[in-house]
Amino acid sequence: MILPIVAYGDSVLRKKGATIQKNHDGLEMLINSMFETMYESHGVGLAAPQIAKPLNLFIIDTTPFEDEKYPNLKKVFINAEILEEFGDKWDFEEGCLSIPHIRENVKRHPNIIIRYMDENFDVHEEEYDGMAARVIQHEYDHVKGILFVDHLSELKKRLLKNKLINISKGGVSVDYRMKFPSNR
Ligand code: NI
Repeated sequence: MILPIVAYGDSVLRKKGATIQKNHDGLEMLINSMFETMYESHGVGLAAPQIAKPLNLFIIDTTPFEDEKYPNLKKVFINAEILEEFGDKWDFEEGCLSIPHIRENVKRHPNIIIRYMDENFDVHEEEYDGMAARVIQHEYDHVKGILFVDHLSELKKRLLKNKLINISKGGVSVDYRMKFPSNR
């Protein structure tokens, strides 16, 4: 089922995702719906708060990046915890399905070590780098209530303020379903 993506300004995007238990009701369906929703909106990652579920759950599929090291990296991250981030920070222009038409450079460490559970609740501890690490860091931020614009300088934030207010008021058009805070 394709779900509407929550827009900037909705308080659910600021909630810390709750830990998910193995018997979580409807989890498999929720994950399937998240993949459907992500593909429909041409995203490479989607976190549960973005579909109004404040849970520690996100998905990625970085296939469009054609990363030789991680081809077809399609994964579910449940109760993830980034254990380490290292390497010299690098800039890359990020966007977010919840913040349409805004793209800004964000500095992040290139390497991460992450512990998470997959959809079968098997625990993994893995290292990622480059674009794969960046997508994971972006989605991981979401389940902590953090958005990529939070990483920008105070000046950049001031310059973006009106655009962000406009998004929260539904003043943007996108080719996927969104839910704006003002029309609840
Ligand atoms: Ni995002």
